[in-house]
Amino acid sequence: MNLPMKPSATNSPARFQLPSVAFFGRTMSEYLQMLALEQGQLRGLAILDVASGPGSFVAEALAVGLDVTGCDPLYDGDPEQITAQGKADIDACREQIRRNPEVLLYADIEAFYRDKYTALERFAADFTTRRNEGRYVAGALPSLPFANTSFDLVLTANLLMVYAPLEDGGMSQGTDFGLAFHLRAVEDLARVTKSELRISGMHTWKHPPERHPYCHPMMNRLEELGMRAELVQSHYDDGCSITNPACNQVLVARR
Ligand SMILES: C[S@@+](CC[C@H](N)C(=O)[O-])C[C@H]1O[C@@H](n2cnc3c(N)ncnc32)[C@H](O)[C@@H]1O
Repeated sequence: MNLPMKPSATNSPARFQLPSVAFFGRTMSEYLQMLALEQGQLRGLAILDVASGPGSFVAEALAVGLDVTGCDPLYDGDPEQITAQGKADIDACREQIRRNPEVLLYADIEAFYRDKYTALERFAADFTTRRNEGRYVAGALPSLPFANTSFDLVLTANLLMVYAPLEDGGMSQGTDFGLAFHLRAVEDLARVTKSELRISGMHTWKHPPERHPYCHPMMNRLEELGMRAELVQSHYDDGCSITNPACNQVLVARR
């Protein structure tokens, strides 16, 4: 499955912006911190990670006996090719971060990059051996290939909000991931969720970051669907928390 193509990258240093969704992932430790979860909360749950990418959450969670499935449009790809794409996308993101030091400020940028390469290595090893075991499923929002209420806990990080168009506070040069997409996406995430849904990163990617304009419309849609939605503080350093820690929140919706 191919991702929607967007116009090619510009050289503008003015804004952090990407021509398409990066295949760029985090370690399990980063993931838990980002989504304000403890590993102990995950035992015994059927968990789905949507837009799972080359993060190592699925690989590491399976290794400690958790019941996790990852879903990403690129999971029907060849392991070598998507791993190469993962490396190229880390390099492209590094370049964008280098050009926009005023937008993204990390407490330890080298540790941030090290974690990305570690996650990619762990993902690549696990995806290569396990891709036919049903733990890495090719699929995309807003039409996930799962039955209603299939998973106790559904997670998604670093797709929604982040890839909103530039004018709406995201990083996308294109407009594929506008508000209409986000509302359809949360409807589908709610559809596959039995108990709890967590969506990371409720802030814009401008300096200084602010509450994302899609955050409340998404919460309202989840409430209309019968879920109770709230914002919970995250302490993950995603490059924005130094300038506005209050924005670093996770949307948690429960049935
Ligand atoms: C930046 S990565 C996030 C990876 C991981 N969730 C993390 O936070 O480390 C974004 C992922 O979204 C995937 N993606 C792109 N379009 C998507 C869609 N419509 N539905 C689900 N995933 C999508 C990409 O393939 C990519 O792997």
